[in-house]
Amino acid sequence: MNADHNVSGFSKLSKAEKIDWIANAYFAHPDEAKNLIKSYWNADAKLQQLHDEFIENTITNFYLPLGVAPNFLINGKYYTIPMAIEESSVVAAASKSAKFWATRGGFKATIIGREKIGQVHFLYKGNAEKLVTFFNDIKPKFFAETENLTKNMRQRGGGILDIELRNQTQKLDHYFQLHATFDTKDSMGANFINSCLEQFAKTMKAEAEVSDLLDDDIEIVMSILSNYVPNCVVRAEVSCKVADLAEKSIENPEAFAEKFVQAVRIAEVETFRAVTHNKGIMNGVDAVVLATGNDFRAVEAGIHAYASKDGKYTSLSHAKIEDGMFTFWMEIPLALGTVGGLTSLHPLVKLAMDMLEKPSAQELMQIVAVCGLAQNFAALRSLTTTGIQEGHMKMHLNNIMSQFHATKEERQEIRQHFHSRPVSHAAVVDFISVLRKKN
Ligand code: MEV
Repeated sequence: MNADHNVSGFSKLSKAEKIDWIANAYFAHPDEAKNLIKSYWNADAKLQQLHDEFIENTITNFYLPLGVAPNFLINGKYYTIPMAIEESSVVAAASKSAKFWATRGGFKATIIGREKIGQVHFLYKGNAEKLVTFFNDIKPKFFAETENLTKNMRQRGGGILDIELRNQTQKLDHYFQLHATFDTKDSMGANFINSCLEQFAKTMKAEAEVSDLLDDDIEIVMSILSNYVPNCVVRAEVSCKVADLAEKSIENPEAFAEKFVQAVRIAEVETFRAVTHNKGIMNGVDAVVLATGNDFRAVEAGIHAYASKDGKYTSLSHAKIEDGMFTFWMEIPLALGTVGGLTSLHPLVKLAMDMLEKPSAQELMQIVAVCGLAQNFAALRSLTTTGIQEGHMKMHLNNIMSQFHATKEERQEIRQHFHSRPVSHAAVVDFISVLRKKN
């Protein structure tokens, strides 16, 4: 057992002490590890402190590139979309799709709903009808006793929409819920919702203790928002005449459209394909969600649950050809915020929001969904024409050349050599070594 890797009171150590402990416990050359960790610190001490304080036990920063995809025409307005992502081909693919659709009417996006959900999960072993009477009796108190919490949100036009009692005893013995819906306006609303729910639980518990309507105790299990938001949904769409899909690399637009629709149908019926198809959508979604300081884990969990809402995991996007028109669309749930949370703390998130001209949460939902659809379009277009590897390998080649600090002249020779040859890491490394020996 490696007992020397067990540490107590780690969180109380200073940052320097934490780094010392890690370097000594895990590295044969502790100074090298320490230097690497410190080389990612920001020279601006204040900025570094800001990042240190986002989480516990911060030792350094973990960089992701922040790229931009310009020329996104959405509902008649041009956007340059910020994307934080490490995968080499994603930003290029988004930009390519954006340019393609900007000359074909652009993207249309509409908000279908914006309702958020939270639940108080509790157990009650008594008579269910009595619980219904009790709930109806105390329901106004849930609103009254959260008035302080909801005041600001109500002033902004949001707040608690409704609270329902749900009997879930068919799924689990004695299990009931308060199922509450909220409008949180431009904030993601997690703190607001959780605070309201915890107050609902307190109110219910206190009322149950003095009520003679119930014939047993209420046991609160937990109070928490749901990241499944099937009524907080945005639709993104592109469409044009099939003939207008033509361009240099799409010589036969009819055949292209047919094959494209077929590829979407495969993702609709086949789970193995649907997951990868949706992963391509999430390449676009996550990158913008991350760049705008939103919670990508919540978004991921909610979207994949939505992809299985009819009992089987399926494609999030759909496509059709009707009366000579090609239409490609998707609906996804997105609980996003443009105020509060990281949006007001992280300088690069602020920059991203400024670049998007300070969007409302609804506008951001539209931008994110469009970026996901654009990404899906780019992936399907490559997959059904040249294959995905051509573009990927071009980017991969660039990465390997950078890794080996290739000069401008070397890059030219390498690109020429691999123009008509398959790119693999080993083949490029070999070629670079031959090239360097020769020169
Ligand atoms: C790669 O990150 C994403 C794709 O696999 C998506 C897809 O297959 O549709 C290219």
